[in-house]
Amino acid sequence: TNGLITIDPGYKNTGSCESAITFLDGEKGVLRYRGYPIEQLAEKADFLEVAYALIFGDLPTKQQLDKFHADIKSKAILDDDVKKILDAFPKSAHPMGVLSSLTSALTAFNPSSVNVDSEEEMYNAIVKIMGKFPIIVAWTMRKKQGLPLTYSTNSLGYVENIMKMMFQSPNEDYVVNPIIRDALDKLLILHADHEQNCSTSTVRIVGSSHAGLFASLSAGISALWGPLHGGANQAVLEMLEAIKQDGGDTKKYMAKAKDKNDPFRLMGFGHRVYKNFDPRAKIIKKAADEVLNDLGVNDPILDIARSLEAEALKDPYFVDRKLYPNVDFYSGIIYRAMGIPVEMFTVMFAMGRLPGWIAQWKEMRLNKEPIGRPRQIYTGENERNFKTIDNR
Ligand code: SDX
Repeated sequence: TNGLITIDPGYKNTGSCESAITFLDGEKGVLRYRGYPIEQLAEKADFLEVAYALIFGDLPTKQQLDKFHADIKSKAILDDDVKKILDAFPKSAHPMGVLSSLTSALTAFNPSSVNVDSEEEMYNAIVKIMGKFPIIVAWTMRKKQGLPLTYSTNSLGYVENIMKMMFQSPNEDYVVNPIIRDALDKLLILHADHEQNCSTSTVRIVGSSHAGLFASLSAGISALWGPLHGGANQAVLEMLEAIKQDGGDTKKYMAKAKDKNDPFRLMGFGHRVYKNFDPRAKIIKKAADEVLNDLGVNDPILDIARSLEAEALKDPYFVDRKLYPNVDFYSGIIYRAMGIPVEMFTVMFAMGRLPGWIAQWKEMRLNKEPIGRPRQIYTGENERNFKTIDNR
């Protein structure tokens, strides 16, 4: 503090806005979207109706949901020139970089989505991105796999359509696997919003300059990419694989995580807000068991994850710092059982978080919030005079 300005690194104790969308209680492990407990939504709702509730304020009637889905389907096409951008990427490109780039590029193909001041203009931009984003997600994965690109199928449900575009093998009819559909629905719901996390705060601050929705989402995707945030779900699987290669030596990785001189962290553990447990992790851990069992998949990685959790929950270092599994700890195990490549895990997180980002951006714009522009405490040089280069 310098009297006027108080610095709060990482905004640990700073509120950035008032919001009516998502409620978290970190001590009690409570998470509600528009007042509905996440446990009920994960069990009883489907992803599109949860997206509607987040964006428009309440669960939709059947008519409202059908109209929302119809409007989304009418926009679920990508200009073929988007393929030229996709083709320009090396195969080694990380899917999050491709996703962020193509999302921003959508502005070029939909210029009317930039200056959106009325709710109607916002609605048009929202149904466009809700229709086009799943195609970009699927194309990003198929490109990585060297598979032909697929298109939206309007006769399918929202999540079924995503699955078909991602998993359809060439020249074969795609049969929706209900186990995967239900698991994907649940995972997308559990990732749909989480108040002012790093990527959502990014979407809000970029959107506060009145940059378009797609540009704001592209920035959010980049923030989510980081291994301390959404990128953790990929890092968890890489860590569990490494432990498996090391003969399941979980103690070695626990020691690394506790070693102050080692930058390694136990990925999928810890949370800024949840200090007793992450309610999403509880649901996903249970779902991992069920889905792998239903799919007949026996993945030793799941056993390693469980023993790592059991040991960390007994270890004073983690207990003292209130470090528990978060949303990213078990989710990758389910994605892997579905046949999703590990580099696509954070893209799946972004797919789930899309409605939350949209809802938060819309709320910020409708609340006419000022442009985000924090201050600083200056610690640099006092005033000094320019020196020509031969005097330096
Ligand atoms: C998500 O914010 C959200 O809501 C995010 C999210 C969402 O839905 O949007 O929930 C999604 O991002 C989940 C988090 C995914 N990230 C990871 O799993 C990466 C590993 N975890 C962390 O790096 C960390 O726990 C954070 C980033 C999640 C939280 O970091 P904080 O709140 O800034 O805590 P910190 O870094 O100040 O750590 C406090 C202490 C430190 O030790 P000391 O300096 O006090 O001795 O705990 C230690 C840290 O070193 N610590 C860990 C650790 N996490 C924190 N030590 C080892 N392993 C870890 N995972």
